[in-house]
Amino acid sequence: QSLAGGFTSLFLWYNGFSRKCKKEVFFMLDNKVKELLNTQINKELYSAYLYLQFANYYEDEGLSGFSNWYTVQAQEERDHAMLMLKYMQMHGESVTLEAIDKPDAVLSSNIDPLKAGLKHEQYVTGLINTIYGAAYDAKDFGTMQFLDWFVKEQVEEENNASTLIKKMEMFGTDAKGLYMLDQELAARVYAAPSLVL
Ligand code: FEO
Repeated sequence: QSLAGGFTSLFLWYNGFSRKCKKEVFFMLDNKVKELLNTQINKELYSAYLYLQFANYYEDEGLSGFSNWYTVQAQEERDHAMLMLKYMQMHGESVTLEAIDKPDAVLSSNIDPLKAGLKHEQYVTGLINTIYGAAYDAKDFGTMQFLDWFVKEQVEEENNASTLIKKMEMFGTDAKGLYMLDQELAARVYAAPSLVL
């Protein structure tokens, strides 16, 4: 056998070996689950982008506490995307990063971002539930367990969003009330996610 032929055989053997290893070492995800998780990475990054739009809106309005609250929220959304990305990588899956849409919420009053935020979180809850459903159909208990954290997180996020709306409706129309609310939201600090992979 020539040297070139030897190298070719070695290459073919290694290729087959590494593919075999990949399948044996990793539990590959169901195609539908994989596709939905990959899409969700983009949706979470879009959420971060949307909340940065809200933060910018409030900054322009002189409400730096509200702006801080949504800046922290944007950081959390990025964390959500990173957790999903890492989860896919842990399963040996390639991640495809798509373009992030331009955030285009129409914001013309101080309550608009809060209402748009709640609507967006309800939409995200639906997306998480759809992935959970696909994992359930595929009997992918590992992904279901991974998503449990997100299911709980969505309950918290929807609750936070509706609480903000209630507070704004009660106190936001009065200048002093709005000032106090802004001070309260200025105190929010970023904390790393409790889910560690
Ligand atoms: Fe990542 Fe606000 O849900």
